[in-house]
Order: sequence, then structure tokens, then C-alpha cells
Amino acid sequence: MYDNSQNSVPVIDCDHRIDDFESAVISGLSDSPKSLPCKFFYDERGSRLFDRICELDAYYPTRTEIGLLKDNAEHISRLIGPGAHLIELGSGASIKIRMLLDAIPDLAQYTAVDISREFLVESAEALARDYPEVSVLAVCADFTRKFEVPNPEHRPGAQRVAFFPGSTIGNFHPQEALALLRRIRTMLGSDGGLLIGTDLKKNPDTLYAAYNDTDGVTAEFNLNLLNRINAELEGSFDIDGFDHHAPYLEKDGKIEMRLISKRDQSASVGPKEFFFRAGEYIHTENSYKFTVQQFRRLCARAGFAFRKCWTDSENLFGLHYLEAGAPDGAGGP
Ligand code: AVI
Repeated sequence: MYDNSQNSVPVIDCDHRIDDFESAVISGLSDSPKSLPCKFFYDERGSRLFDRICELDAYYPTRTEIGLLKDNAEHISRLIGPGAHLIELGSGASIKIRMLLDAIPDLAQYTAVDISREFLVESAEALARDYPEVSVLAVCADFTRKFEVPNPEHRPGAQRVAFFPGSTIGNFHPQEALALLRRIRTMLGSDGGLLIGTDLKKNPDTLYAAYNDTDGVTAEFNLNLLNRINAELEGSFDIDGFDHHAPYLEKDGKIEMRLISKRDQSASVGPKEFFFRAGEYIHTENSYKFTVQQFRRLCARAGFAFRKCWTDSENLFGLHYLEAGAPDGAGGP
């Protein structure tokens, strides 16, 4: 049993380097259409702006998922079962996990997995202090890559359950999402569980409003990528020369975040110069939306059997419990 009383949580470093920002920016801006990877949104300012997005009236996913976790905590706890090992992927500030830790009476271990080490250790230590009966472990890893999670508290018959909230799975292209779900399935072993949140397909106006808020917070979040390039890569972007726009592309079932050049202009990144035509955009994020059936099929292809899906009364968000057993036949290849 780990001793959490000293506020020191064991940390495993997987030596996954955060991808090189500079080469990703240069390669993305050399593409057509130009793009920047969404994982670079989350510097300190970007993370604070994302927290503000989560509190916007228009951005329903966070509060809806929290409501689903609260309302169904007892049922979730029964599915997870006694003595389990809960593994949170991209744990961040570890807020939603508290709803599960409050509800699960007999959890053996909680492992937080995140690439941002300082943030990871800080929030894992706070959890260890607040839940002294649970063994807390921190794994500093990029959860999209292969990593091991040890089971020091393993109890026979108890499950490993991955918790992947926030509809982060929607930020991956469907092929990448499938590959990631398969890796999670492998990490869990043959009898684990997965509790995962997904944003659901709905009225396009509701989706549009959530990603184009009238307070301009999502715009600031998106434009912050250009601030980051200026600050970290000797960039010369005129931030006011770009507009945020996030259309819902119904045929692809995704919101696409874009930064649109207001005029013909050029900007440099270190010694490299990039030209932008008026109206040309940089694609910065995909946020795929699912129907429950679609997500079930994707999970079946990854080797998960569907167990339960909770949705809110307006069908905005889905919280799914899957088992890493044989698929239930919901999907095909
Ligand atoms: C983190 N991710 C699930 C958010 C989403 O809704 O796709 C990121 C975000 N982008 C704009 N607003 C929120």
C-alpha cells in the first residue's frame, strides 16, 4: 500500500517527449489547407481559457457530463465493482474523477495519466490528500502512445477501468480514435471496463453556438495558438489579422475550428515565411460528434462490448460504459 500521508504520490515517467512544437507548426503551415495540431492549445493561458469555455452557458458538454456522472454515480460504481483500479486518461485538473471517488466505496487504486508533469503531480497529490484510503499513482505519459500501468494493489477478480471523459475522443480523426480505443483495450486486458464521454449529434445551431460563443472566449482560445507561436517560436503573426470561425460540417459530423486570414498577409515563424490569402484559413481542431449507435459500432470494432449508455433529457451528451470483452455484435468491420 502506498503511503499517501506524506503527500508524495509515486510518479512513473514514460519518457514520452511532448511533440516538437516548432516542427509541427512548420509542417502544418506548409500543408494545404494549412493546419495546426489542437494538442498545442493547452499552454498555461490556453488551459485557463479552456476552463472558461467549460463554464460558458453555450458550452453544454462539461456541465452535462458532470450531471450524468452525479446522477448515475451509484450505477457506475456497481458496474466498476469492488477493489477496482481506475485509470484516468488525460487527467488534467482531476475534477470529474472526484464524483467517482465519492461514489465508489471500495476503490483499490487510482492512476492519473497525463503528459503535463507538473499539473499531473499537483492534482494527484491533492487527490491523495482528499482520498487517503485510495492508493494514488501518477503516470507521466502521452496516452495516445503505448504505456504500462502497474497494478500494485491488484485484488483477484477486481477490474481495471479506464475513465476518458470530456469527449476528447472526438478530437481524433475516426481512424486515430479507433487506434486509440484499441490501445486502451490492450492496456486494460481482457476483462477491464471503459467509462467514456462523447458529445452527441444534435441541432447544428446548438453545436454552432457552443463553439462560436458570443463572449469570444473560444475565439481567444483559438487565437492563442498564434500568440504561442509568436512567444515561443519568434513568430510575427498579427493576431488581429485573423478571425475565429468554427462551422459544423454536417456531412462529416464535426465542428472544425479555423483561423481565417482577414487579408492578404504574411507571417514568419523564425526564419520561415508563410503567406496567407484573404479568406484562407488554418484548420486548428476537429471535434467529432457521434450518435450512440455510431459510437457503439466504433467501440465494437476496437474490441469493446457495450454495457450501458446514459444520456441527458435533451440528448446532448453520452456517457458510455464498455467492457473489454468480446464485442456485442453492435458493429461490423
Ligand atoms: C477538449 N475538447 C473535447 C474540446 C471540444 O469540445 O472538442 C475542445 C474545445 N474546443 C473548442 N471548445 C472546446
